[in-house]
Amino acid sequence: MNTQPIGLFDSGIGGTSIWKEVIKLLPNENTLYLADSKNAPYGEKTSDEIIALSVKNTEYLLSKGCKLIIVACNTATTNAIDYLRATYNVPFIGIEPAIKPAALFSKTGAIGILATKGTLSSKLFEKTANEYTKNITKIEQDGEGLVPLIEAGKINSPQLINLLTTYLKPMLNFNIDHLVLGCTHYPYLIPQIQKILGEQVKIIDSGEAVAKQTKAILEKNNLLNTLSKSATKQPTHQLFSNININILAQLIKDVPVQYTVEKLDF
Ligand code: SIN
Repeated sequence: MNTQPIGLFDSGIGGTSIWKEVIKLLPNENTLYLADSKNAPYGEKTSDEIIALSVKNTEYLLSKGCKLIIVACNTATTNAIDYLRATYNVPFIGIEPAIKPAALFSKTGAIGILATKGTLSSKLFEKTANEYTKNITKIEQDGEGLVPLIEAGKINSPQLINLLTTYLKPMLNFNIDHLVLGCTHYPYLIPQIQKILGEQVKIIDSGEAVAKQTKAILEKNNLLNTLSKSATKQPTHQLFSNININILAQLIKDVPVQYTVEKLDF
């Protein structure tokens, strides 16, 4: 039994799509979420810059006693997780685009992948994509510009819808039947994406799989928090952002647990 929090970090507010799945599957766990919105988007940065930011976020979470860290950002995972695992002595969970299930269940033999430039150009992405898409046509699209608009709370703006349409409509010419969301910000766009692609295209994100993997790793390392089951004390969930508190708070307002959102200079 271990009451230390699970730490999560992202280049901003998008990783809350992962946080929501984690607290649903692991209702006894305390969590600490770090939104590095000041430095978003990571997807436009060099690999060295992404590693340096990931180290800074990790060290903050470790200073708060986190027992496991979820790198709730595809770009940081693909660029920095190997370095983090080799450097720090806690388990790290990363976010990999769900290419495997999309390729496995595709009937048309064509899938779309929407991710950041930083993810699409990474070695880890190339390895995963090559491993699972041998007989599959994969249409990769850089979602440049989407993350800043989501960070600015402009999820339904004409600007965002136009960008999404430009990026996704051409995929229909290839008869894709699955779209993989390779960025933790993008699940907040699912209704808009579904409208553009139609109901025949299944949209896949990684949230649930990441929560399951987190649970498995906590169990394996004997790190699960079983305390709250017997006690009346509710788990604590602390979310921090270095800007954007209101937009972050708006994004998670329907979550049925108690939490705090604070501005933190980091
Ligand atoms: C970004 O910061 O560019 C997007 C984060 C992600 O890849 O999940």
